[in-house]
Amino acid sequence: MKRKILTALYQAEGFLSGQELCETLKVSRTAVWKTIHQLQEEGYEIEAVTRKGYRILSSPDQITAEEVGARLKTKWLGNTICYLESVDSTNNQAKRLAEQGAPHGTVVLAERQERGKGRRGRAWDTPGKTSIAMSFLLRPSLALEHASMVTLVMGMAAAAACRELCGLEARIKWPNDIVLQGRKICGILTEMSAEMDGINYLVVGTGINVNQETFPPEIRQTASSLLLTGGQRISRASLAALCLDKFEQYYERFLETEDMSRLMEEYNGMLAGIGAGVRVLAPGNEHEGISQGINQKGELLVRLPDGSVEAVLSGEVSVRGIYGYAPEERGEQKGV
Ligand code: BTN
Repeated sequence: MKRKILTALYQAEGFLSGQELCETLKVSRTAVWKTIHQLQEEGYEIEAVTRKGYRILSSPDQITAEEVGARLKTKWLGNTICYLESVDSTNNQAKRLAEQGAPHGTVVLAERQERGKGRRGRAWDTPGKTSIAMSFLLRPSLALEHASMVTLVMGMAAAAACRELCGLEARIKWPNDIVLQGRKICGILTEMSAEMDGINYLVVGTGINVNQETFPPEIRQTASSLLLTGGQRISRASLAALCLDKFEQYYERFLETEDMSRLMEEYNGMLAGIGAGVRVLAPGNEHEGISQGINQKGELLVRLPDGSVEAVLSGEVSVRGIYGYAPEERGEQKGV
């Protein structure tokens, strides 16, 4: 009910009469009034004017199911949303829900993560009130070897959403970190449950630094937030919803070919360091080349000094000028 009323109020341009709300939602005037009252108690500023109706003036910066759900324009992603004030990790929660049979497209949001996970066993800090911790569950009928590209698709969605909502030139650091002015603002961790014959489910988890004003000294040089870079506070619910909208659109295009053919050009347009020097950190064989962008398999093409082009499948690539040639790349930095 709250989600429905919020959706109607967000979509209305100006006032929405109590009568219209009752008719659209097929509920009584008392039920509408009670819900509006509850929302006001939760910190929503809702103006009520006789003969005009209700108008939403401001909402608390929360990433609850109501706040994100009311802003979603998706067809299937986020039809079920689970919000928790605190959780070990939204990825873990999505996996638990998956094991209990939760549907494709289920989204998990949390204000705080007690044991947020980064890639390669690192930790990911989600202090609460300032960032987004969001995971969703996919049950795709994809070939196993195509699954890793879903992370690239999420990277595109997050970068595109930051660009559109904040007007900032968010760039992708291959494969899927999002950087602003050379500092990381978003990371993605995809986990998979699979058998020999295929994927059971994927959990795609995204952490975005939105309104942090400061970072711990050990990551201050490499991490940033949208607030610190763009100078304006961003509604976390609007950004989370836009990320989901973008993901659904890109993912549907990805599924048409099960690879990056239809997305590659746009991905490369957002990629940091095309034409710049990169260092490929292959174990025992570190070498340098020039980044040429990704191919349809999502591999990074690197032109080597002898003119040949190497396709780097995964693993660590350090892009010159993006976090420097950073120790972070070798796992010395915790999280973010
Ligand atoms: C990285 O190392 O860059 C990936 C970080 C991924 C963090 C997100 S926050 C939401 C989801 N839940 C987790 O425990 N991790 C991911």
